[in-house]
Amino acid sequence: SPASSLSPKHEEYSYRNENELAEINWDELRFGLVPTDCMYVMKSSQDGEFTHGELRNFDNIKLNPSSGVLNYGQGLYEGLKASRKREEGGLLLFRVEENAMRMKMGADRMFMPSPSLDQFIHAVKLTVLANKRWVPPHGKGSLYVRPLLIGSGPILGLAPSPEYMFLVYASPVGNYFKEGLAPINLLVADKTHRAMPGGTGGVKTICNYAPVLKAQMQAKSKGFSDVLFLDAVNNKYLEEASSCNIFIVKGNVISTPATNGTILPGITRKSIIEIASDLGYQVEERLVPVEELSDADEVFCTGTAVVVAPVASISYNDKRYTFKTGKETVSKRLYNTLTAIQMGLVQDNKGWTLEI
Ligand code: COI
Repeated sequence: SPASSLSPKHEEYSYRNENELAEINWDELRFGLVPTDCMYVMKSSQDGEFTHGELRNFDNIKLNPSSGVLNYGQGLYEGLKASRKREEGGLLLFRVEENAMRMKMGADRMFMPSPSLDQFIHAVKLTVLANKRWVPPHGKGSLYVRPLLIGSGPILGLAPSPEYMFLVYASPVGNYFKEGLAPINLLVADKTHRAMPGGTGGVKTICNYAPVLKAQMQAKSKGFSDVLFLDAVNNKYLEEASSCNIFIVKGNVISTPATNGTILPGITRKSIIEIASDLGYQVEERLVPVEELSDADEVFCTGTAVVVAPVASISYNDKRYTFKTGKETVSKRLYNTLTAIQMGLVQDNKGWTLEI
C-alpha cells in the first residue's frame, strides 16, 4: 500500500543494509550533510505523550507555517556519534543516555514535553541500525546522529505549541573544522555575547545558534576557525566557542569555565574532565578570566562534532596569544584516550559506549 511504502517496517530497514557500505568516497568526508536512508519521527498527542514513533525514508517534513518552532523558535537539538568497531564491525553509540537526559532538561526550559529516556535511546538505535551502511569504515569518521524536538503544532499568539515532533536523522561525518585535526585559530568576540544569566545558554535550544552566525562569519572572513565568547555581564570570563567548549592547560592544571547556566554542558566536556582527572591532571571548573590566556601552555576545544581540537592561537583586543600544539601535548593525549574508547580500541571501563 502507499502507506507502507512511505514507512517500511523497522525490521525491513534494520536488515536491508546489514553488511554493505554506501558507495561514497569515505576519504573525503567533512562535516556536511550526506543524506542517509531513513529518519525516525514521533509526535506528541495533546496530553504531551509521545506515541507511534516510526522510521521513514529520509525526506523533507511538512510543517504548518504557524508552527511553534518556525515562529517562536520552540526547539531543541542534540548531537551524538556512532562509530564502527575495528574487527567485529559492531557499532558503538557514545553516551546516548546523556543526550537523552540533556534533551529532557532542555525541554523543561523550553516548556516542551519530551520523549522518555527509553524512547530517545530506542529511536537513536533504530535510526543508526537502519542507516548502518552509512556508518563510515573504522577510522574514517563516524555517523553523526541529530535528534530534534520541535514545536510542530500551529500557534499564532505567543504560547506553547499544541503539538511536538521528535525527529532523529543521521549523516556520516569527518572532521568538523576545515583544518582537519590541525590546530585552529580563534577570535574573541568583542561585541557579541552568546548567552546571559537566566537565559538559555545552558540548554541545547536551536535559539542559541543563529545569533552567533554573524560573529562567526566575520571571524571566518578574517581567517579564523571560530569565535570565542566572553560572559555577557563582565565581558571578562571565557564562556565557549560557537560550536564547542573550551579548556586551558597550565602545567598539571586543566581549567574550563564552570557550567553556571550560560555554558552548554557538553558531553565531551564532561568526558574529558573525567579522563583528565583519571590521568592525574588537576581539573578545575571555575571562572576563567580571559587574561589567563597570556600564560596558558595549551588551549583546546571539545564537542561532539569537534571532538578535542587543539587551539594554536586566540586573538583578543589586537593581541594574539599562541599555544603549544603537536604530538607531545595534553590535548593530543586526551584526544587519543577519548577516541580509543569511542572507537572500541580499548576496554570501556566506564560504560560510556553502547554496542548495537
Ligand atoms: C555538536 O558538537 O554535536 C554540536 O551540536 C555542535 C554543532 C554546532 C555541530
